[in-house]
Order: sequence, then structure tokens, then C-alpha cells
Amino acid sequence: MTRDILTIADLDSGGLNAILDLSTRADPGRPLAGKGVALVFQKPSARTRNSMEMATVQLGGHPVYIQKEEVGLGTRESAEDVARTLACYHSIIAARVADHELLERMAAAVETPVLNMLSDSDHPLQALADLLTVRQLAGTLDGVKVAWIGDANNVCRSLAEGCATLGVELAVASPEGYGFASVEADRLGIGQTADPAEAAKGARFIYTDVWVSMGQDAETEARRTALADYQVNASLMALTDDAWFLHCLPARRGEEVTDAVMDGPKSAVWRQAENRMHTARGAMAWMMGEGI
Ligand code: CP
Ligand code: NVA
Repeated sequence: MTRDILTIADLDSGGLNAILDLSTRADPGRPLAGKGVALVFQKPSARTRNSMEMATVQLGGHPVYIQKEEVGLGTRESAEDVARTLACYHSIIAARVADHELLERMAAAVETPVLNMLSDSDHPLQALADLLTVRQLAGTLDGVKVAWIGDANNVCRSLAEGCATLGVELAVASPEGYGFASVEADRLGIGQTADPAEAAKGARFIYTDVWVSMGQDAETEARRTALADYQVNASLMALTDDAWFLHCLPARRGEEVTDAVMDGPKSAVWRQAENRMHTARGAMAWMMGEGI
């Protein structure tokens, strides 16, 4: 069985907890000694590229950063043939893609484990860092309430899958048309509302993300209008009992979050950003067969 991570739902509670534990061990070992990790990016990145490169080095491996134009994933060469080529040199193939299906096709073509570095539907590496952050700050995951305010997007879906598996309570507040379909909300076991105040009630963490994700530029005005009442600001935070603020970054300050919240004493966004490296290390160690 290949240890692909295309979605958080690919991992059961044993796998998720193993990755979180591998992420925080003092000596990460060198499971990638002498091995390569391919990092294919169809979209820009600051945190994912840097955290994945450094995590690879910390595990003894060598990262190769590959820009969109270089491999032409699905254009210059089919997704399957790109994966087969990269599998000749690398022990993990990681990709950030516009269309999630490309990852599935790559994973189906090779035995080498494939890692999703963000797709239109999922962002599992972000969710791993988010779960570690909640575990560190709350001391547990079990029964902790997290409120997601805004667009129920790729980051939200992966977080929701992790919360469902590890017993975190997630409430999602989104305007009409920007929440999960009810069948998916049922699958994820989450409560959805249109009211941010209702979601925030009793939450120990308030999480938001940009209103316009990469690739959605044509919808910018419609999204800004629809999501205008979903800003995380001091008024919303004041409805909580001193909750922590979470954001995957990059943030559009002044849109989905104010400077006062981003830079405030309960902002955990830089801890999340740092945890991206630790959980990338944990995820890749697990993909190399550790933590069984
Ligand atoms: N949070 C995140 O994935 O950031 P980047 O897009 O900068 O990698
Ligand atoms: N939802 C955002 C996350 C960026 C890390 C996007 O897909 O652009």
C-alpha cells in the first residue's frame, strides 16, 4: 500500500496522530537520507515551498523545486508521465495543483507516495499544522470547539476532515452559496450557519481564510460582496472567551481579518506558519514508513 496523502480523509485517527507525534519528536531521524523529494508547483507559495524544502533537508533528503512551466503538468506531458518520470529520481512526489484530479492521476500511475501541497478542493498539509497548533494551545483536541468564518474552501475542507477524525467540534459560518453542500456537511459532522456570532459562541479558536482563493480572481467582486459581513475583527473576537485566532496565510488584511486581530496577543498565525515545517516533516516521515 502506498502512503499517499491527497486528502486528510486518506488518514485514519491512527495515521493522523502518528503524523502529529512524528512532527514533534526531538530527533526526526534521516528517513530521506540520500533521497529526493519533488516539489511541483502550479500555483505560487511562500509557506509550503519553504516548509517542505526545510523539512526535506531536516530528514536528510534533497528537495527539487519545480515550477509550473518546467514540467507542464498535463500540458507538456500527461500527469501520469510526469509522475512516472519523477518517480525515477524521487522518494516522494509532492504537487500543488489547480485541479485535484491531477493528483489522483499521478498517484494512480506510480508506487511512489504522492503528497498534496494544495488543490482546489483540499489542503491537507495546512490541516496537519492547524491540528498541531490547536493541540499545543488547548492541550488536547478532544471536544475543543473551532469556528470557521467565511468561505468553506479547500483549507476548511481539510480542517473539517481532521476535526471529524480527531473529535474536534467545528462550526462553519458562511453566506449562502459559500458553505458546504448539506450532504458534505453531514459527512463531516459539522454544524453550518449563516451567522458568525452563532459559530463563534463557545469557540476556543476562530479561523478564517481569504475570500478569493488562488484561481478565483474572476469572482473577486462577487466574493467581496457576499463575504463582507464575515470579517474577523475585534467585535467578533469579543463574542468569545478570549479565543485564539487562526489563519493559514497569506492574509488580505482589511478584508477577511483586521490588523488588530492578526497582530493581537491571541493571534496564533505565526505558530501555525512554523508548524507547517514540523508537520511537513512528520507527514514525510510517515510517508517513508515511520510511525506504523
Ligand atoms: N498556507 C499556505 O499554504 O501558504 P502558501 O500558499 O504561501 O504556501
Ligand atoms: N484558500 C487559499 C489557501 C492558500 C494557502 C487558496 O487556495 O488560495
